[in-house]
This record gives sequence, structure tokens and C-alpha cells, in this order.
Amino acid sequence: MTGTLSPGISESSATLELASLLEPVSAEMKLVEEWLRSNLIDDSQFVASLLSQVFKAGGKRIRPGLVLLSSRATAPGFGELTPRHIILAVLTELIHTASLVHDDVIDKSSLRRGQETVNRKWNDKLAVLVGDLLFAQASICLARLMNPAIVGIYGQVLGDLCAGEIKQMNQQYVCAVDWDGYIYKSVCKTASLFSAGCHSGPILNGCGDEVVSALKDYGTNLGICFQVVDDLLDVTATASDLGKPAGGDLAQGLLTAPALFVLQREDEPARRLAELIKTRAVCREDGIAEALQLIKDNGGTDSTIALARKYAQQSREALRGLPASTYRDSLESIVDVMLIRTR
Ligand code: FPP
Ligand code: MG
Repeated sequence: MTGTLSPGISESSATLELASLLEPVSAEMKLVEEWLRSNLIDDSQFVASLLSQVFKAGGKRIRPGLVLLSSRATAPGFGELTPRHIILAVLTELIHTASLVHDDVIDKSSLRRGQETVNRKWNDKLAVLVGDLLFAQASICLARLMNPAIVGIYGQVLGDLCAGEIKQMNQQYVCAVDWDGYIYKSVCKTASLFSAGCHSGPILNGCGDEVVSALKDYGTNLGICFQVVDDLLDVTATASDLGKPAGGDLAQGLLTAPALFVLQREDEPARRLAELIKTRAVCREDGIAEALQLIKDNGGTDSTIALARKYAQQSREALRGLPASTYRDSLESIVDVMLIRTR
């Protein structure tokens, strides 16, 4: 079920695969990169080098890619995109990056994508301000779109990001199995921004409700799938694959799908896992190793893969009504790329 590739190979093949799926919008992606490098508010040398470090750490740029593909897939006659679509893609990446810079402060993380985080390299105060600066830049981009519906959608995303973090914070080391809470948190933290990115382009294109809502569903399901896979990798991947310590979620008492599947069994392994979590043994090296092994040995990873596949399928189905195009093909294949990461 988990396939033959090691997670490290899967991660890099997923990245390669994604790059080729973004090929139909590669010219637009270049503009997004230029924008991210140049159009930032503060022009001081120090802030410029700091921001370049944040963006140098890279990332797969999946969110701007989705914005551009869904915009192109729904543009009249699949025609060229406008500067507003590029700005939409840029602001989506800015919000994502800003939320990660803040998240690293909250999680006290030292590494992201294999690079030192801003809070680690400098300090928390600077990281909060850099995150704020990126959010401010995103707001300016949003204003430039001159579209109140999209302002509302992204306002909701910002609220969701905060609500998801607060929900997560209040649930740390709580072993009650709450699937609705887990999905709610995944929607807030991840799927809300995916969904905004996927259906705002069609709104700019003047598409009807049916198309807009199809892309909204596609983004929501894909985002949940992405988060579920991320939660799986926290258990199955190595620190070097992840660019951050493995088992980090559980060590912080964050209960995600792999642990929830074991805890809901209410048998001996479930009781032992709950004990390791409640007593904070998961904060120690031996405790986290035992907990991760318990999850792997008791169906936690396989059931999580099945859950990711369910959302992947829902995401694919949402695209069914869209006219055929190379852009739609890429959107469909991105769903499979999410699942490559589970191998
Ligand atoms: C990564 O989660 C974090 C997020 C997806 C969102 C974090 C959001 C905030 C900190 C709130 C942002 C603030 C405003 C003003 C909108 P993770 O810790 O599960 O993933 P990781 O392992 O990549 O860190
Ligand atoms: Mg984090």
C-alpha cells in the first residue's frame, strides 16, 4: 500500500512532477517569481536580504501554480492571463509565506525547508515583523485587484489561518478522537488558502457560479488531502527528507490523522500511545520513537493514506464539469502528485 519508494525519493519526484505540470503556465510563474523578488515594500538593504533569504528557502510554489492553472483553465477561450491574475498568484504565495514565518515563531522551529528560520537566525520579534510585512504586501496586492468578493475571500482565509492555529493550540496533548475538529483545523490551516487561490481566478474571469464553486471544491479537497499527506510524512519521513525534525507534530502534542487512527481503536496500543502523549513522554527521543513505531505498526499510516486518497478523489471529481484543456489536465495530475508523496 505504501509503495516502493522511500519518502525522500518520493518528495523529490513529486517536486519534479509538479514542475512539469506547471509548464503550461511557466511564463506566468516567472512573472510571479520576479514579483516576489522585487516588489516588496521596504527597500532597505537589511530587509531586502532578509526577505530574499525567506524566498530563497523556496518551496514548491504550488499555491501560485494552482491560481494560474485554475485561472487559465477557466479564462474565455483559455486566453492569456492579465496582470491581475499574476498579482492574485503573488498574494497567495505572500500569505502562505507570511503564515509560515509566524508559524515558526509559534512552534519555536529552527529549520524550514532545510534552512534556518528567521526566528532562529535573528529573533522572534524580527520574525513577527517580517511576517507582518508580507501580510501588508499581500493586502496591497489585494487592493490592486479592485474586487470586493476576492477581498472577502482572502479576509476569510486570514481569519481561518488564525482560527486553525488557535484550535490546534487548545488541543495540544488532548487525546480525545475528534475527526470533525481535525478536518476543521485542516481546512482552516491549509485548505482555505488552496480553495481561495483556486476559485478567485475564475471570479476574476467572470465565470458563473457553477464553475466558481467547482474550483472552490477542487481547492478545498486538494488542500485537505495536502494537509493529510503532510501529517503522514511527519510520521513516515526522515528529518533530512522533511528539512525539519521528524515526529515534530506528535512531540508537540498535535494529534493528526496517523495518531487519531490508532487512538480510536481503544485497544492496548491505543492506550499506550495515549499514555506516551499525556505524560509528555513524546517530548523525549525514546518516547517519540516508540510512539511513531506504534502508529506505523497499528495501521495509522495505511489508514491515513486511504484518507488522503478519499480527498484526492473528491478533488478530481470536482473538475469533471470543466472543459478539457491542458490546464485542466495539470490540475487533475496535481492531485496525483499529492499522492506520490505518500509512497
Ligand atoms: C503550518 O503548520 C502553519 C500554517 C499552515 C498556518 C499558520 C498560521 C498562522 C501562524 C497564523 C497566521 C497569522 C495571520 C495574521 C493570518 P504546521 O506547523 O502544521 O506545519 P509545519 O510543520 O510546516 O510548520
Ligand atoms: Mg509549524
